[in-house]
Amino acid sequence: MHNQASQPLKPEKSNLSISAIQQLWIAISIGIVVLAPLALFVVTLIRTSSVIDTAFQASSVHRTSVVKASGAEKKTTINMAATAVGVAASPSAPPFFVAPSRPRIILFGDSLTERSFDVPSGWGAALASNYSRRADVVNRGLSGYNTRLALKTMPYIFGPASASASGSGGAVAAAAASQVLFATLFFGANDAARLEGPSHSQRQHVPVPEYGENLRKMVSYMRDAGVQRIVLLTPPPVWEPGRKVHQISRMGEQAREWPLDRTSAVTAEYARAAAAVAADLGLPCLDLHTLIQQEDDWGERLLCDGLHFSPAGQERLGALLRELLQREWPDVRPEALPMQFPAWDAVNLADLEETFGGSS
Ligand SMILES: *[C@@H]1O[C@H](CO)[C@@H](O)[C@H](O)[C@H]1NC(C)=O
Repeated sequence: MHNQASQPLKPEKSNLSISAIQQLWIAISIGIVVLAPLALFVVTLIRTSSVIDTAFQASSVHRTSVVKASGAEKKTTINMAATAVGVAASPSAPPFFVAPSRPRIILFGDSLTERSFDVPSGWGAALASNYSRRADVVNRGLSGYNTRLALKTMPYIFGPASASASGSGGAVAAAAASQVLFATLFFGANDAARLEGPSHSQRQHVPVPEYGENLRKMVSYMRDAGVQRIVLLTPPPVWEPGRKVHQISRMGEQAREWPLDRTSAVTAEYARAAAAVAADLGLPCLDLHTLIQQEDDWGERLLCDGLHFSPAGQERLGALLRELLQREWPDVRPEALPMQFPAWDAVNLADLEETFGGSS
């Protein structure tokens, strides 16, 4: 009896619940069909306007935040609209350029520069990573060189001085030089090797007055060769206990009694001379000699042999240099520079000439 009475109720219940589910589904379907395209349309509108902002805003700060927030996809859309071909290095520059070469950043110095591409944290390599696809970071570090020797290498590294004044070949050289975004000038660690030290240090020694004079000649040469922006780095401080250990491990127990090749006090004189030259010539100066000594345990932590940088020291130098560049020349920050060639997914496949030029 119970069963008979309850059975007809069951279908009624399930009829009710089916229709409720159906209603829900209909509502969801309408939502998807009507609202989703609407939402997409709105999103596209917003994106397009930020893309246009990105392309034409002179404010590099604004541009950076937009690019960071929106990624590569957006930049590409404008590329097609702007179709700018050539090199431009201003904040209002298009987000790509089409040209046979990239602007260069030249790192000129001794072993502290030559080792700047060392893994895992070389300061030059970090810079190259920062500027990837925007500028070539060129390592021209010459281990063991003092300013006297380095002066002789300058025509090979920076091209002829006064390039613009020497005919059409000169014009080409000048154009190449104008492509140098900036250069670092970082000598002194070897000039400061002592005459009173072991024979290798006598070979490297350059007196302070000549060192200062050589730095001036170098800056003057670079400027004549068309390099407009130069950062001068002072030699880092020497940590004598580390230098002693290194000297013994390299030259044996006998070296325990030898005088040090470099000392803290002597290198300080060279650092002061370099900072004075920078101030006199109006160059931004990364005064490593002072800055490194402000760090905790700098001798053990930031140097590996009392003279060269440890991985932690390389990283610190990189960060200090980035801070200086940001402060002095915000217009050559990586974010402010266009990339060479458009992003792969921005290329107009229907008209490659439009992007890449040429008449193939
Ligand atoms: C530059 O490199 C440093 C160290 O690798 C990194 O922290 C920084 O975010 C980079 N900046 C850019 C703009 O790539």
